[in-house]
Amino acid sequence: MKSTEITQDVLLAAEALRSGQLVAFPTETVFGLGADATNPQSIQRLFDAKGRPSNNPLIVHLGCLEQLSQASQDLPSSALKLLDSFAPGPITVVVPKHPRILAAVSAELNTVGIRIPDHPQASELLRLANRPIAAPSANLSGRPSCTTWQAVLEDLDGRIDLILKGDIPRVGIESTVVDCTGRFPVILRSGAVTLQQIQSVLPTTQNWQDIPNYTAIMPSTMPSPGLLHPHYQPLAKVIPLDATGDFELAGLTNPVECAYLGLQSTRMLDHQHSPGHDSKDLISKFGLMIEFDSLEEYARGFYEALREADRRGLKRIYMQLSPNDSLGAALRDRQLRAAGGQGRLV
Ligand code: TXA
Ligand code: MG
Repeated sequence: MKSTEITQDVLLAAEALRSGQLVAFPTETVFGLGADATNPQSIQRLFDAKGRPSNNPLIVHLGCLEQLSQASQDLPSSALKLLDSFAPGPITVVVPKHPRILAAVSAELNTVGIRIPDHPQASELLRLANRPIAAPSANLSGRPSCTTWQAVLEDLDGRIDLILKGDIPRVGIESTVVDCTGRFPVILRSGAVTLQQIQSVLPTTQNWQDIPNYTAIMPSTMPSPGLLHPHYQPLAKVIPLDATGDFELAGLTNPVECAYLGLQSTRMLDHQHSPGHDSKDLISKFGLMIEFDSLEEYARGFYEALREADRRGLKRIYMQLSPNDSLGAALRDRQLRAAGGQGRLV
């Protein structure tokens, strides 16, 4: 296939989408890989380009609230309330699907995830395309998502037609996915819009992990989402650390092969196990050391940091886990999954 073109021309990118091409574009969360959700060839190419399992449904993206009827004719009142409060923004509502959206887009479910990004170029692109655009994160399936156009090129050069350059994603992790089709709203994937924020509008909302026998109560959502697929994984082995960011020096023989990601200064615990090593000296030899100033910065820089560790050929990433609430909960979910942890739904 020909190599991937890179452009800043939103009109060109919209025309490419309208003619069935695959176009990566920035959003406020991560880069998406767009394709016309009504064009079977485009959708097949999209799954092929990412190497995405066909049982993992895609989110349909729209430019504005006025385009909602292109993706669903039957919006539950809970979905309308969420969109009213948080769209455009980093939230996806799962609602009954418009027949026009291809079955392959939603992995044969009768529901569809809908999102309206809050990002200038994404909004303009989607408004100009003026049709529902399926857009998973623009990375090879299983790899960390992309927050720069260069990272998209790394994964998808030659596999997609175009990359639209634009403002860098300000959130850095994917949207909150809320199933609005059941008796009460259920958060299937945490994101920048927090449980507390959603409960302030819809008080009965719960995280799927907190619902006993979730699979029995909500059978419709189980067969689909990417719950069994690996996600966000770098080539390097990820070693999660507790919220203090402390870690043991024992066994750490080759610091130059290691990365450290965290929020605060690293403290070495294990002096007695490594006599003769000066810990400060050791950590200064790390192949990559990033201490983010805030949780927001950590989320924004997280995927790029994983990718940078891989670019440098590092073997291990020591990763301070974020606290398990608000934005921290969403980041922690990605961190545990990057470390190969199970038990998350999407
Ligand atoms: O922030 C985002 O949501 C980014 C940007 C590009 O918009 N997109 C994104 O797409 O993260 P993707 O494909 O990487 O993740 C979509 C998630 C998957 O975990 C999928 O299982 C879930 O949304 N999903 C999509 N449609 C669904 C549906 N009908 N029912 C349940 N889950 C659904
Ligand atoms: Mg993804």
